[in-house]
Parts: sequence; C-alpha cells; structure tokens
Amino acid sequence: MQTNEIPVITIDGPSASGKGTIAQLVAKKLGFHYLDSGALYRLIALKALQSHANIEDQTLLAHFARNLNASFEDETVSLDGRVVTNEIRSEQCGILASQIAAYPPVREALTERQRAFRQPPGLVTDGRDMGSVIFPDAILKIFLTASAEIRAQRRHKQLIEKGIDANIADLLQDIQKRDDRDSNRSIAPLQQGMDARLLDTTSLTISEAQDTVLSWYNEIFAKNRV
Ligand code: CDP
Repeated sequence: MQTNEIPVITIDGPSASGKGTIAQLVAKKLGFHYLDSGALYRLIALKALQSHANIEDQTLLAHFARNLNASFEDETVSLDGRVVTNEIRSEQCGILASQIAAYPPVREALTERQRAFRQPPGLVTDGRDMGSVIFPDAILKIFLTASAEIRAQRRHKQLIEKGIDANIADLLQDIQKRDDRDSNRSIAPLQQGMDARLLDTTSLTISEAQDTVLSWYNEIFAKNRV
C-alpha cells in the first residue's frame, strides 16, 4: 500500500472537546493507529520545564522537538525512558504547550515525525492542524467542538479521575485563554476547514459521537468502493 493510499481520519478542535477520547475509540474500533499530536507539544513543554529552558528560545525548543526521545505504547507515554503519561496532562504543561505551539520552527520540526504515524491499515489523529497542515489528503476531516462550559466540566472530571487537583472556574478561564491563543496565532490556527465536517458534542454522549464518526467514515468508504 502506498503511503498516500493509507486512510487517515483527522479530528481537530479546541481544548477539552473530547477529541482524544473519540479518536482513540474510533481507532480501536477500526483497528487503526492513533496519533495524539497534542502530546508531542506537551512533551516539549515538559522537556523545557525539566531543563529550566527559556521558553522564548525558539531555536532551543525546536532542537528539543527534533530530538524528542519519546515513545507511545498503548496508553503509556514516555520521555527519555521515564513514564510521563499523567505528568504531561497537567494544566501547566497544557498552557506551556499552547505557547510553544505558536513557534514556527517547533511546528516545522514536528511535521515529519507526525506524518510517520501514517501506517497500514490506517490512522486516526487528533489535534489542531491535522486536517489543514499535516494530513491535507485525509479521507475524513472532522472539527469536533463543544461549549466552553461543558469542556471545562469534562476537563475537571478527567483531571480529578487522574488524581490531579483542579477547579472548574480556573479551568474555564484557561480553556478560554487557550482557545483564543490557538485560534488567533498566525501559524496553523485552530479553525474549521472548508473540507471538515462539524461535530458539536455539547449534548452528545461519547458513544453517540463515536457512532457519528464511524458512520461518516463508513459512508465515505462505501462511496469510494463503487
Ligand atoms: O487536550 P487539549 O486539547 O487541552 O490539548 P492538546 O491537544 O493536548 O494540545 C496541547 C496544546 O498543543 C494545544 O493548546 C495547542 O496549542 C497545541 N497543539 C497544536 O498547536 N497543534 C496540534 N496539532 C496539537 C496541539
């Protein structure tokens, strides 16, 4: 199978919209690989924190991005041989990741690494620019969103379950700040592409959202076969 024949489903959208959960479930259902692109930005943020790096030093951060010694096995993420699955989920890493993600040399350094996840039989990926920049020829592109209040509630539940302390009002403020920065940056801003289908999950359960994505994929798959 040629690389450009390997089907890719991209799920882009704002912070805490449920992209990761839905993307992982869809990947599992289809037996596809999964790329959590946000985790790469979070790993660079963690690396910067650990090395007390100046977070305005774009050259150094791009160097971290190019040489990132990270591995993804099932749901376990490691950095330099150490498990950091929960550590990268902290709000501190998320906020820093969003700042670092605005630097063009960092994004450039991650491009090929992300494309290398496109392996048979297929890939489901989530992020901000998966459909617009990294996999422009994806077979199905989705823009997944939900109201900011619902997203803050979901993020709160997720953090508490992981044993990470959190407060809904602070989370809502962080989400709004991050939405603003991610949508207004000049490089790869977060926005619904003309070729992306909108999926608003404000009043949908996880299983309903998953079923919608699968039905869209099956519809396209069936059309491509005739
Ligand atoms: O889980 P959440 O949506 O809060 O964040 P994430 O997907 O883990 O991504 C963390 C940060 O990385 C986001 O705020 C974005 O600024 C950035 N990011 C990006 O710029 N491009 C991507 N493809 C993925 C994440």
